[in-house]
Amino acid sequence: MQHIKQYVEQNRQRLLDELFDLLRLASVSADPQYKPEVLKTADYVAAKLREAGADNVEICQTAGYPIVYGEKIIDPSKPTVLVYGHYDVQPPDPLELWHTPPFEPTVRDGKIYARGACDDKGQFYMHVKAFELMMQTDTLPCNIKFMIEGEEEVGSANLGIFVKANKEKLKADVVLISDTSMISMEHPSLETGLRGLSYLEVEVIGPNRDLHSGVYGGAVANPITILAQMIASLHDENNHITIPGFYNDVIPLTQDERDALNSAPYDEAEYKKDLDIAELWGEKGYSTFERTGTRPTLEVNGIWGGYIGEGAKTVLPSKANAKISMRLVPNQTSEAITKLFTDHFLSIAPPSVKVKVTPHHGGEPAVTPTDSVAYKAAQKAIAESFGKEPIPTRGGGSIPIVALFEAELGIKTVLMGFGLDSDALHSPNEKYDIYNYYKGIETIPLFHKYFAELS
Ligand code: BES
Ligand code: MN
Ligand code: MN
Repeated sequence: MQHIKQYVEQNRQRLLDELFDLLRLASVSADPQYKPEVLKTADYVAAKLREAGADNVEICQTAGYPIVYGEKIIDPSKPTVLVYGHYDVQPPDPLELWHTPPFEPTVRDGKIYARGACDDKGQFYMHVKAFELMMQTDTLPCNIKFMIEGEEEVGSANLGIFVKANKEKLKADVVLISDTSMISMEHPSLETGLRGLSYLEVEVIGPNRDLHSGVYGGAVANPITILAQMIASLHDENNHITIPGFYNDVIPLTQDERDALNSAPYDEAEYKKDLDIAELWGEKGYSTFERTGTRPTLEVNGIWGGYIGEGAKTVLPSKANAKISMRLVPNQTSEAITKLFTDHFLSIAPPSVKVKVTPHHGGEPAVTPTDSVAYKAAQKAIAESFGKEPIPTRGGGSIPIVALFEAELGIKTVLMGFGLDSDALHSPNEKYDIYNYYKGIETIPLFHKYFAELS
């Protein structure tokens, strides 16, 4: 541990400066306007892997953004850790809500404010720097491979193809990912599961053109009203989802599992205060951790139609649209849920409108084992660096690669995230605590050490 602390101490400023350079690159994968910046980011990551001591560093082309690969094989008979992360980020919008520009990283109160600070540049870059540390101090105890992709925030459409075509190259004993949250720095935790995702777009089509709302209003169904009614009907009075068959494949948790999840520290008053809401909402009969970690949900992510410009316009619009996503839990599949949603949504459309449902991307849920050598190594690493045993939790977000790695390569994942839910991922003023960044760089070498020792 001493050599680790010392290395971080001696390189403190540079470790931060390099992350800042990475954060200055606007690698927004969703918007084609940022394409040159996304490609530059892949180059930057490849260069840094090379500098840190990785061999066979490659910018692997895909039909979309490239995947950066690099490795250090010290001894083929030793275990291999595959580090996964993503160099792409969410769009920074709405820009006017940022206190400082999203791609000019700024430190306030010990925190780095920038898009991607936590999700996932700040987190995956800890692995690059921890690798450098192990190379420089001659302490790399196992083989390591890096796979850093550029399309995670848009559904990783080309990743499956890459993984299927490169099974030998990606062969490893465990996948290690830092792209999730901890409860808090005082209560370090390890996520042991992620939800899946089914994302789609719906369109409700009324009259063949926008109409004068005085001339036709009252006689013709307004697609926005119909869409709002259809959406509202998707939850009942207990906030259960009403799509027939939606819960069929869900495996109920045992009472022991529920008790374990609910024993994690949670302060409801604090939770509400942080969000400035008077009351929580959710599926009846479940706690907050159960609702976000173990139950499937349905959210409207966007809704539009009619006139939304300055002033007023009395229009009865011809169309209304919404983006809707569902979070899935183990044993549900995105394909089956997408079909159930589509069939149901079409069936509840009144004859006054036509409805179209267009699926976007999906991802499968995953649980990670807690009795594996790799999980124990992560537990030991965190216990040593935080001075406290990590609490197992279930994450509400999705990282589709986790299920994909297991299905295609048979490899399980350890989710050793150092973010906080309050880091404003995907929101304005995303941040990452400098303390967490260094803490991650210090903890990761311990993971490799214990993984090699216990394997
Ligand atoms: N890192 C997040 C997922 C995450 C965040 C997991 C916090 C657990 C805790 C990831 O970058 C992400 O945002 N994933 C998307 C899914 C993807 C298919 C677009 C998500 O969860 O919405
Ligand atoms: Mn992420
Ligand atoms: Mn994300």
